[in-house]
Amino acid sequence: MSITGIKGMNDILPGEVETWQFLEETARRVFRTYGFAEIRTPAVEKTELFCRSIGEATDIVEKEMYTFRDKSENSITLRPEGTASVMRAFIEHKMYAQDPVAKLYYLGPMFRYERPQKGRYRQFHQIGAEAIGVDDPRIDAQILVMLSHYLDAVGIDELELQLNSLGCPECRPAYREQLLVFLERRLESLCEDCRRRHAANPLRSLDCKVPGCREATADAPAMLDRLCSSCDEHFNRVQGRLQDLGTPYTLNPRMVRGLDYYTKTTFEVVTGKLGAQNAVAAGGRYDGLIRSLGGPPLPGIGFAMGVERLVLLKSQERIAAPRPDFFFAALGEQAESRAFGLMCALQRKGIQAETDLEGKSLKAQMRRAGKLQARFTVIIGEDELARGVAMVRDMDGATQKEIPLAELEESLTALAS
Ligand code: HAM
Repeated sequence: MSITGIKGMNDILPGEVETWQFLEETARRVFRTYGFAEIRTPAVEKTELFCRSIGEATDIVEKEMYTFRDKSENSITLRPEGTASVMRAFIEHKMYAQDPVAKLYYLGPMFRYERPQKGRYRQFHQIGAEAIGVDDPRIDAQILVMLSHYLDAVGIDELELQLNSLGCPECRPAYREQLLVFLERRLESLCEDCRRRHAANPLRSLDCKVPGCREATADAPAMLDRLCSSCDEHFNRVQGRLQDLGTPYTLNPRMVRGLDYYTKTTFEVVTGKLGAQNAVAAGGRYDGLIRSLGGPPLPGIGFAMGVERLVLLKSQERIAAPRPDFFFAALGEQAESRAFGLMCALQRKGIQAETDLEGKSLKAQMRRAGKLQARFTVIIGEDELARGVAMVRDMDGATQKEIPLAELEESLTALAS
């Protein structure tokens, strides 16, 4: 019996990978414009990093982490998200000592043991960005403008940016108490998860998708109405900047996010085209996170996009793989070795070229040239070889001309440019 891949973990095959490359290359290009540099962290971290940052009473930490003991009995976890790892690296390498402001982006696989469905996988990929060290609401606006610039650049539209503010350690505890009292009166209507967690993480009930919980919390108090004056002013200024910049958004006071590190501005970019998994990107501020992980008291804000979801939204438009410039169709040992040498010389010049390595008939080789959609087929048969020429056929225009073998490399190089 053959071995299959692991459920919820996908292969990305040629034909689809071109879309991935396009999404990744555009991220590098757009993020660089805004002064972000790439950071790469390991796919595995100490389990404690995620427990402390994401929070013990979250779905991710409670149920979704791939946690193992390594051979030295250390508990390690495949990263379920990128922010915690980036902050760990920022602190560990004392990056703040050179510059307390850091703008970093990352691309890579993340792992969550969720029930797989369309748009939700166990290994998935994020493209994320984090801006560390700036309190000013202008950075919140910059992050959101960069995200919307990126989504425009990759041609994904009909999206909605939803904003909320989750307050800070000044105003959230009082709100939390109020919500707790509200939920206690409705405990019997809540789902098992929300009941169990209501004391540790009452805000999660607002985000629960179970219809009974949605109904029971429809008139729950909203954090947005209970922000302290400093959070309120900050959030107003974020919104003011977005309005100045013409970036549309809606307020979603029920958005609480599934990770505990958030403070103040939080956001999600949602689509109506992906069913239940409607968040294409999400993020927010995490002003206390760096300090809680043992670093200096620096604020931060960022987002991550789910690449699989971006790919699903782009699936109508296939991004074509680059076509070979030349296919060498040769017959006979001498012609084959001439063709092979030329192909290698062109490839070294960065010109995409192919040939047949299986000794097929000329007809079969021509069929393969057509299948690969080569721009030109260079035919060197016994007759051409005897006359010291090659036949170069333009596959799009269906025209052909003879070129002397001695000039072939030069002529083909010119044709390719
Ligand atoms: P998150 O909301 O957990 O936030 O994930 C961000 C995005 O990753 C989601 O909006 C979704 O597009 C994608 N995603 C999450 N889980 C899956 C899955 N199982 N399958 C496919 N795609 C998925 C974070 O991870 C935060 N670290 C974002 C952030 C960065 N906040 C501040 N900085």
